[in-house]
Amino acid sequence: MKTTKTIAIFGATGAQGGGLARAILADPSSEYTVRAVTRNANSEKAKALSGLGAEIIEADLNNPDSIKKALNGAAAAYFVTFFWEHFSPEKELEQIKHFIQCAKEANLEHIIWSTLEDTRNWIPLDDDRMPTLQEKYKVPHFDAKGAADKLFVEAGLPVTFLRTSFYWDNFIYFGMGPQKGDDGNYYIAFPMDDKPLAGIAAEDIGKCAYGIFKKGKALIGKTVGIVGEKLSGNDMAAKLSKALNIQVIYNNVSPETYRSFGFPGADDLGNMFQFKRDFNNDFNKVRDEKFSLELNPQLQDFDTWLSMNASRIPID
Ligand SMILES: NC(=O)c1ccc[n+]([C@@H]2O[C@H](COP(=O)([O-])OP(=O)(O)OC[C@H]3O[C@@H](n4cnc5c(N)ncnc54)[C@H](OP(=O)(O)O)[C@@H]3O)[C@@H](O)[C@H]2O)c1
Repeated sequence: MKTTKTIAIFGATGAQGGGLARAILADPSSEYTVRAVTRNANSEKAKALSGLGAEIIEADLNNPDSIKKALNGAAAAYFVTFFWEHFSPEKELEQIKHFIQCAKEANLEHIIWSTLEDTRNWIPLDDDRMPTLQEKYKVPHFDAKGAADKLFVEAGLPVTFLRTSFYWDNFIYFGMGPQKGDDGNYYIAFPMDDKPLAGIAAEDIGKCAYGIFKKGKALIGKTVGIVGEKLSGNDMAAKLSKALNIQVIYNNVSPETYRSFGFPGADDLGNMFQFKRDFNNDFNKVRDEKFSLELNPQLQDFDTWLSMNASRIPID
């Protein structure tokens, strides 16, 4: 029997970790086995992974002892935090510190940390081009992740910093799909002007991560940005129109308008899109289509993603 290495995958029942778990489990010649980390081994998603051959282990990022057990004997780990569960960058930081503490003792060969930019390096808190949120942040769901990068370095951990892109799946799950206007047309609203938005199929994040683990040592200490395709609001609207067979129009709202939409996190996302608009080149240049494709030869562009997912986009 061939010996395999265990990868402990946090968020294995979610979008990013789930994609990685499925990518490894679908590869019969993989040198890795999947340890899927979840708070609930009895959930349908955990059972589905178990059915595909994953080891299931219960752990909670709020409980360091459970993280330690999840990492015990593992050779590698995929680590992601879950901002939208609690909307708290402080909680993210606390959970990251728990993970780092446990990872130091676990003697891992390779960790992928799913991070994002600390936008305060571009827009300091006293810059009033966008409001400061939660007193210390410009884009709360980005900033703590980016600020935590240096904690991994200081801890001497063998980390690859993975910078992900906007999930196209947000059109299905995050309420960002086309909304019907009074004129009968459908609208997608982003405050991006004509700047391209780096997007990706959520499932491809895990497949790219698998590619990073396969490259191993070469990518330790490196930042890898991944993207499926970079498209303007007009481009996305045209592709959505074709795939959904309705007229979808890009509504280039202002960041102020987006922040005032009123749903939980609208201010955070308004700042995020403004950051991606105003520092578009900086944001997009670290997310390279060619390298993403090298990591994941099945990488989807938006049309391919739509061909398989358009019917799941809710339109009223
Ligand atoms: N949406 C986007 O466009 C986008 C783009 C880039 C980055 N992101 C980032 O992606 C992150 C979320 O990743 P995702 O989309 O893969 O998540 P997801 O699909 O929302 O899944 C949530 C996962 O969180 C796990 N979880 C939640 N709290 C936990 C805890 N205390 N301990 C252990 N596991 C916990 C859940 O596992 P169980 O319920 O099974 O325990 C589940 O697997 C966010 O931080 C977000 O900022 C999102």
